Amino acid sequence: MYSENQIEIFVLISSISLAVFILLTVYFIVRLKLKDIELKKSKKQIEKHSNNLENLVEKRTSQLMEKERSYKNLYEINKGILENSPAGIIRLDKNFHVTYENPEIKRILRVAKNEDSNLMNKDIRKVAPVKNSKKVGVFDQLLCLEEIDTEFSIKSECSLTYLTIRGVPLIEEDEFAGAVILVNDITKRKKAEAELNKAFESAIKILSDTLEIRDAYTVGHQMRVSQLTAAIADEMDIPKKQKKGLVVASIIHDVGKIKVPSEILSKPGNLNDIEFSYLKEHPTVGYKLLKGVNFPWPVAKIVYQHHERLDGSGYPKGLKKDKIMLESQILAVADVVEAMSSHRPYRPSLGIEAAMHEININKGKLYSKKIVKACQNVIESGFEFQEVDEIEFEGETRVRI
Ligand SMILES: [Fe+2]
Repeated sequence: MYSENQIEIFVLISSISLAVFILLTVYFIVRLKLKDIELKKSKKQIEKHSNNLENLVEKRTSQLMEKERSYKNLYEINKGILENSPAGIIRLDKNFHVTYENPEIKRILRVAKNEDSNLMNKDIRKVAPVKNSKKVGVFDQLLCLEEIDTEFSIKSECSLTYLTIRGVPLIEEDEFAGAVILVNDITKRKKAEAELNKAFESAIKILSDTLEIRDAYTVGHQMRVSQLTAAIADEMDIPKKQKKGLVVASIIHDVGKIKVPSEILSKPGNLNDIEFSYLKEHPTVGYKLLKGVNFPWPVAKIVYQHHERLDGSGYPKGLKKDKIMLESQILAVADVVEAMSSHRPYRPSLGIEAAMHEININKGKLYSKKIVKACQNVIESGFEFQEVDEIEFEGETRVRI
């Protein structure tokens, strides 16, 4: 049997073991509890983050949908503008190939809706080789990152269409990346302008004829002078608009003679000083008559200076050299050449040779050397005044052009 001591030791060891077991059990229970608390905390945090994330996704989705709606809206607006634009619109890529054309382009090119305009994916420079006045391809200017703005016409079997082209280059990293081209049909406007021009030319002609009814000696003179001024202007490469003003001024350059008494206008032979002083009034009278007309060219001023001479010996102001308008200087040369080479009732024609001799001996003195040279070239190249039909004035048949 066990001694008392042994039993005590056994009891002590058992008690200690039990105590350790209880302590360990409590420890693990507490630890488990703590873990459980942590897990619950983490779960709450995860739930919270999950909720935040959900909210964020929902917000972002809503923003994206809003943006999509707005882009769609914008797309519809742009599509509506492009498809209903009264101007033709073409988009080019960097190789000048057409990547977009709106429906108006087909209308302008008279192409049926179900047909191909023949522009898509083509090089615009080849299908529409539009050149400027210097014979340079207009679309090539876009390569220099310059805008283009020009007019041209398309001829088909039974119609002529006038168009304007405006192009803006698209630039990416300082390089040409394509272009947007606006095309407008201006045929109606051009036709209206032509009608207006016709009416205007008729009015000018009537003004010219009115004088010629009074001045029997110079019938057709102004029109023939205008033929020569036009030829000289072409020879001198005078800009188109300036030439038009010169020609209009030439047709009516003597309109101021309307105030000169008809006895002086129709007097055969030389005029005395008093009569000549009346005649010398005609550039001033012409200027006063024409200055109130809103011409797009300086017609009144050209007429005013057409008897001025380079050395100041002309009239009415005695202007010298470059104080005289170029147009008036050209008109002066053509006026003298026509007057000398045409027949007058009080003298036969002096001939074109005499007329050319007159301007040649006075070139640099009365007339510009450059203009005399241009006139010489015109005459030598076979220029002839046109005398085409005859009309009757007060029962008298007179030659006119
Ligand atoms: Fe005159």
